[in-house]
Amino acid sequence: MLAQSILCQRKCSVKMIARVLPLLLCAALVGSAGTVSAQTPGVTLAATPPMGWNSWNFFAGRVTDKDIRDTADLLVSTGMRDAGYVYVNIDDTWEGERDAQGIIHTNKKFPDMKALSDYVHSKGLKLGIYSSPGDKTCAGFLGSLDHEYQDAQTYADWGIDYLKYDLCGFRTLQNAKAPNNPALQNRMMRDAYTLMHKAMLKTGRPMVYSLCQYGLDAVWDWAPEVGANLWRTTGDIQANFDKMSLIGLRQAGLSKFAGPGHWNDPDMLEVGNGRLTLDENRFHMTLWAMLASPLLAGNNLTAMTPEIGAILMNKQVIAVNQDSAGHQGDRVFEEGPIQIWSRSLADGSVAVAIFNTGEDSTSLRNIPLPLKKLGFQSAPHALDLWTNKSVGVLDATYKPTLPRHSAVFLKVTK
Ligand code: GLA
Repeated sequence: MLAQSILCQRKCSVKMIARVLPLLLCAALVGSAGTVSAQTPGVTLAATPPMGWNSWNFFAGRVTDKDIRDTADLLVSTGMRDAGYVYVNIDDTWEGERDAQGIIHTNKKFPDMKALSDYVHSKGLKLGIYSSPGDKTCAGFLGSLDHEYQDAQTYADWGIDYLKYDLCGFRTLQNAKAPNNPALQNRMMRDAYTLMHKAMLKTGRPMVYSLCQYGLDAVWDWAPEVGANLWRTTGDIQANFDKMSLIGLRQAGLSKFAGPGHWNDPDMLEVGNGRLTLDENRFHMTLWAMLASPLLAGNNLTAMTPEIGAILMNKQVIAVNQDSAGHQGDRVFEEGPIQIWSRSLADGSVAVAIFNTGEDSTSLRNIPLPLKKLGFQSAPHALDLWTNKSVGVLDATYKPTLPRHSAVFLKVTK
């Protein structure tokens, strides 16, 4: 039918064109992106990187129903929801036992998931949940192995909008079934992720599908094929500068794999956690904005300071992260502790970030901004996104001083 439609050219009837056009469009989409990754036909999930909050980085295994309700309330009262943080994601340790029919139930920390979901939705937010393709999750709770269709349906019945599916327990199975056979282990992993995707599709409820397998086997090459909207590219982040900057800056070279509906995920935010300084928190947020990374805050909102709130809710910075073109930024310059990254934006402007990973304050001294490389022939104008002040014309006189572990974030326009 497809070949026939291409060959028939002007002799095609209107009826026939109407019949084959969707097929041709679909083929064109598959051809250009390699895959079609939306969960439900006609619904574009994660058209921009998902934004929200996840329980793991602060609460870890202690998270309860009350923490989720408090967080939902605070997402609204602090303005975070209106800034774009709409997913409230419960990570590992909500799982209880399966009943005689194999249906999974929550443990006593979460007495009624449907009621919690209704509460979260009543606040104009969405609810996310966590599971594993293995028999056990990373924290040793029940995974979805052999119960994928049941679990997906349970999530849909609860009103879940987002699933993080974490490899963990499945690795034991891979090692047992395919010892020393990386190719077969890879096949098993892809099949397991595809299976849950099919189960989610079958429910008819759109759910964002987040793969968590720590970037194994160049996941960015095949994640959209198994239905993923985002995929972790690294091991776990920690609330310290070394780990955060190492993970973030290692994303260089991955920009071509990201785009609307399918994103690289260098892990959830640690902004406001640990002992990160305000400069380090701004560095973190700048880098995640450049990376078109999902922005899942992971801090304790009951104790959020105004300074941390201002970092998480900076409108200009969020606008770069959520830019509709979905071009992930990449590194254009590196020398000693200084790195310069750029990201082209939908309106033709360019986001430019300068990072100082070093222990000492430094100015750009003899490092010129690579403006020609960024496509600017004449001296362009720049806005400092953190201060929201014009920098004026960017030329050789622009020499910002970067304190230890800090970033300068500019929006450059012709
Ligand atoms: C893994 C993931 C984390 C978190 C924990 C939960 O370590 O990478 O993000 O989900 O499991 O057990």
